[in-house]
Amino acid sequence: MDPFDYAHKHAKDIVWMSQNTNQIPITEFIDKAILKAVQEGEYNLYPRARGIFGLCEAISAHLTLPGDYQVLLTNGGIEGLYILFRALLPKGGEVICTDPSFMPIHHQVEISDGILVELPIYQPPWKMTVEQIKAAITGNTKMMLLIDSINPLGTAYDRSEVKAICELAEEHDLIVIDDITYRDFSEPVGTYEYVPERTIVSYTFSKNCGLAGMRIGVLAAPKSLMEKILPYNTNVLSVNVLAQRAALAALETIGQWLPPLRQQLIENQQLIKDTVDKIEGAFLPVYPSKTNMFVIDISQTGIDPDDVQEKMLFEHNVFIRSGNYVSKRFGNKFVRTSFSVPREGVERFAEAFPKVISELRK
Ligand SMILES: Cc1ncc(COP(=O)(O)O)c(C=O)c1O
Repeated sequence: MDPFDYAHKHAKDIVWMSQNTNQIPITEFIDKAILKAVQEGEYNLYPRARGIFGLCEAISAHLTLPGDYQVLLTNGGIEGLYILFRALLPKGGEVICTDPSFMPIHHQVEISDGILVELPIYQPPWKMTVEQIKAAITGNTKMMLLIDSINPLGTAYDRSEVKAICELAEEHDLIVIDDITYRDFSEPVGTYEYVPERTIVSYTFSKNCGLAGMRIGVLAAPKSLMEKILPYNTNVLSVNVLAQRAALAALETIGQWLPPLRQQLIENQQLIKDTVDKIEGAFLPVYPSKTNMFVIDISQTGIDPDDVQEKMLFEHNVFIRSGNYVSKRFGNKFVRTSFSVPREGVERFAEAFPKVISELRK
């Protein structure tokens, strides 16, 4: 059976460590805002084209976007990325990105007739280096996809690296896609601090505050770039109004829920590290993670990550991902597990994972 079909069929019994969404309850205000909008029948009307009053402003303030940045609400970050490639990537234009990565974005480059230049980052320092990027730039390079912090590795770029990457973008006239999907877990440095005029920001409410099923994300860019993007906007009537209410409530209360959430994630990381440390041949390439997920390298065990995924899911109802989901070249070396699930879920992982590895080792 397809793992997703199985997991959705048994959704309540599954520990969902497969998709980096947050499932730790954070604030009652999100539910209240959604219920109020339902009770008032707000969904009967098309939402205001630019979004409900206050939401785009709250997003700009939270991300500390430059003053001339415009915010476009989209059906998840993924749709915003689709819109931007359609609008700005010329046929045959090269996009510098990584392997491993979040592959659906790469698919969108392909369907926009762009060319992927996937730099291998499954080795220390587990992120792109400035030298690697420099060597990959050609006369045809148009964009850089900077996922920061990185899905799946959990690495982030430090300020000097971001600055140097931005200098390269400037020198070679490149657009930087600053995918800050996981930024609330570590607050990485935005490229818009250095090259605001050539940055497009991709952000989402799927990972931080648990709105993945609501499908709400953000594309933000300076006015000059947004003017080129907007003709390709597929949401001229805006996006789901209940999702917008939920997102606004999340931002209005972020000071209350983000610090305890981050504390819980530190504790969850620790339990996974303790578990992995005891398994011969397994290790965490990056610790601590600057996201809400880990890569667990199991290459020295000789075990196929697809088998680990299958056994964890079908025998223990713990859903983690084989590396093959996020890497073409290195996917047979690791599994990915997120840890933004309630403690009980991480404990179930800690019990099941060593058992599964030891059974598959035989
Ligand atoms: C790096 C990255 N970008 C974008 C997305 C898209 O998320 P969503 O469409 O749920 O907002 C994801 C989801 O996993 C991701 O990992």
